[in-house]
Amino acid sequence: MLALTILALLQAASALPSTSDCAVEPRRGSPPAGLPDENFFRNAAQSQGRSFCVVRPNSKGGDDAPAIADALNRKCRSRGLVFLPGPVYNIRTPMATLNMDDVVINQFGRLLWSTDIEYWRSVSMPVGFQNQSTVWYFGGDRVTWDGYHVGTLDGNGQVWYDWAKGKGNMPRRPMNVNFRKLTNSVVKRLRFVQSQMWTMAITHSKHVELDDIYVKSTSNSRWNTLNTDGCDTVNSDSITFRRWDVTNGDDSIALKGNSSNISIYDSVFRDGQGVAIGSMGQYDGRSEYITNFYARNITLHNTAHASYLKTWAGHSRGFPPNGGGGGVGHASNIVMEDIKVDRLRRQPFFAWQCENYSGFSGQDCDSSKFKLNNVAWRHVSGTVNDDVNEVGWFQCSAAAGGCDDFEAADIAVTKVNGSRLTRWHCDNMHGNKGFQCDNVAKTRGVANRSDSPPDA
Ligand SMILES: *[C@@H]1O[C@H](CO)[C@@H](O)[C@H](O)[C@H]1NC(C)=O
Ligand SMILES: *[C@@H]1O[C@H](CO)[C@@H](O)[C@H](O)[C@H]1NC(C)=O
Ligand SMILES: *[C@@H]1O[C@H](CO)[C@@H](O)[C@H](O)[C@H]1NC(C)=O
Ligand SMILES: *[C@@H]1O[C@H](CO)[C@@H](O)[C@H](O)[C@H]1NC(C)=O
Ligand SMILES: *[C@@H]1O[C@H](CO)[C@@H](O)[C@H](O)[C@H]1NC(C)=O
Ligand SMILES: *[C@@H]1O[C@H](CO)[C@@H](O)[C@H](O)[C@H]1NC(C)=O
Ligand SMILES: *[C@@H]1O[C@H](CO)[C@@H](O)[C@H](O)[C@H]1NC(C)=O
Repeated sequence: MLALTILALLQAASALPSTSDCAVEPRRGSPPAGLPDENFFRNAAQSQGRSFCVVRPNSKGGDDAPAIADALNRKCRSRGLVFLPGPVYNIRTPMATLNMDDVVINQFGRLLWSTDIEYWRSVSMPVGFQNQSTVWYFGGDRVTWDGYHVGTLDGNGQVWYDWAKGKGNMPRRPMNVNFRKLTNSVVKRLRFVQSQMWTMAITHSKHVELDDIYVKSTSNSRWNTLNTDGCDTVNSDSITFRRWDVTNGDDSIALKGNSSNISIYDSVFRDGQGVAIGSMGQYDGRSEYITNFYARNITLHNTAHASYLKTWAGHSRGFPPNGGGGGVGHASNIVMEDIKVDRLRRQPFFAWQCENYSGFSGQDCDSSKFKLNNVAWRHVSGTVNDDVNEVGWFQCSAAAGGCDDFEAADIAVTKVNGSRLTRWHCDNMHGNKGFQCDNVAKTRGVANRSDSPPDA
C-alpha cells in the first residue's frame, strides 16, 4: 500500500515535462517551468500521511546546511517529504543525514559548497576507505531523492583543482557525498558538477538505483581534474546505474573492494579513465572481492579505456592511499556488452596487477595473489587514437596463477585513421576465448601511464 502510493507519486512526477540543463535558474517562489509547485508537494505529503518540510535558502545568504540537515534528521526524518525549491543553497558546514526512513526529497535548487579549503579539510569526515573523506554523509532506508533534471550539487571544485595542482589523494580533500548505509533507495535526475574530489562514493549500501545522473567536473586552468571519479562503490551490493552522463578527469565509475551485483546501463562517459574494476589488493593481508558486474549499452568518448582492472602488487610498499599492496581476493564475472568507443586514448581493454600511485607502477607485476577471472567483452565497436596498438593489454600476475577465462566476442575497433586493431598483449593468460595473445616477448613496465593518471 505504502509502496503503491510512493509509486503513484513518482509516476505522477515523471509524467511531467522536464526542463533541460540550460534552464534558467528559477526565481524565488516560482518553480522552474513545467515542474510541480509547492502546493503539489504539500498535497502529496498530506495524502500520503507524510510530514512536509520546505527548506528555503536563508534570505541573508547564510549557511543553509543546518536547515537542510535539520529537515532530514528531525521533522521529516521518518515518513517525510522534503522540498528544496531553490534557487541556491549555500553550504558552509558539513552534513550528516544518516537515519532517514521512508523519505522523499524533491530538489529543484542548487547546493553550492563554499571555497574555504582549509576549513573543509579541518572538518571533512572519514569515509573509512583509502583515507578518503567527505562533507556529506547521506544514508537511510527507502529514500527517494529526485532532482527533476535541475536539482544540482555544485562542489565549486575549481579552487580544489588549482590547490591540488594535479597531485593525487591530497589528505582530507573531501568528496562531495558519501552514500553510506543507504538501502532500498532511489537517487534520480540529479546533477553533480565541479566536485571537490570524487563526486560520490557508495559504501555499505544495498539495493540502490541511481537513474538519469549528470556528472561534470572540468577545469578551466592548467591544473587537471585528477581524482574527480564519478562514483565509487565499496562494500556494497546490488547497485544499479542507469543513464549516467559523466564528463570528468578520472574513473567514470569505479568498483572497489567488496562490490557485488553492480550494473550500469545506457550511459555515456567522456574524457576520464573509463570503467574501473579496482584498484584492489591495496591493503596488506586483507581479502576482498568484486563479483557479478554487468554493463550494457555504454558509449565512451576520449576515455583512457573501456574498462580496466587493476590490483596492487603482492608486496606491500608504503601505505594507502598512495602506497600499499599485498591484498588478496578475486574479481570474477565481469561482463560488458554493446560498447561503443570513440577515440580512446589507450587500449580499450586493460588489466594489470602492479598499480601504484607514487611512481612505481608497472613494476613487480608478477607478485600479486589477487585473482582475475571470468571477464568478458562482447559487441564492441569504434575507434582509438592512432598511437594505440593493441585492443587488449593484460598484465596478469604469475603468483595469482595468471588470469583465467577472459573472453572477447564481436570486437571491431579501428584506429581513427582506419586500420583495424587486432593485437592483444597478455602475460600469464589462461583459457582465453575469442582472441589470441600475440605479444612477441614478455614485457614489463612498458605500459606508459603518464598520460592517464590513476585514480584514488
Ligand atoms: C592516512 O590516514 C592515516 C590515519 O588517519 C594517517 O596516519 C596517514 O598520514 C594518512 N596518509 C595520507 C597520505 O593522508
Ligand atoms: C571486504 O570484506 C572483508 C571481509 O569479508 C574485509 O576484511 C575487508 O576489509 C573488506 N574490504 C573493504 C575494502 O572494505
Ligand atoms: C548478488 O545477487 C545474488 C542474487 O540476488 C545474491 O544471491 C547474492 O547474495 C548477491 N551477492 C552478494 C555478495 O551479496
Ligand atoms: C543506449 O543508451 C543511450 C543513452 O546513452 C540511449 O539513448 C539508447 O536508447 C540506448 N539504447 C538502447 C537499445 O537501449
Ligand atoms: C610505489 O612507488 C614507490 C615510489 O616509487 C615505491 O617506493 C614503492 O615500492 C612502490 N610500491 C609498489 C607496491 O610497487
Ligand atoms: C594508420 O597509422 C598506423 C600507425 O599508427 C600506420 O601503420 C597505418 O599505415 C595507418 N593507416 C592508414 C590507413 O593510414
Ligand atoms: C610516456 O609518455 C610520456 C608523456 O606522454 C613521454 O614523454 C614518454 O616518452 C613516454 N615513455 C615511453 C616509454 O613511451
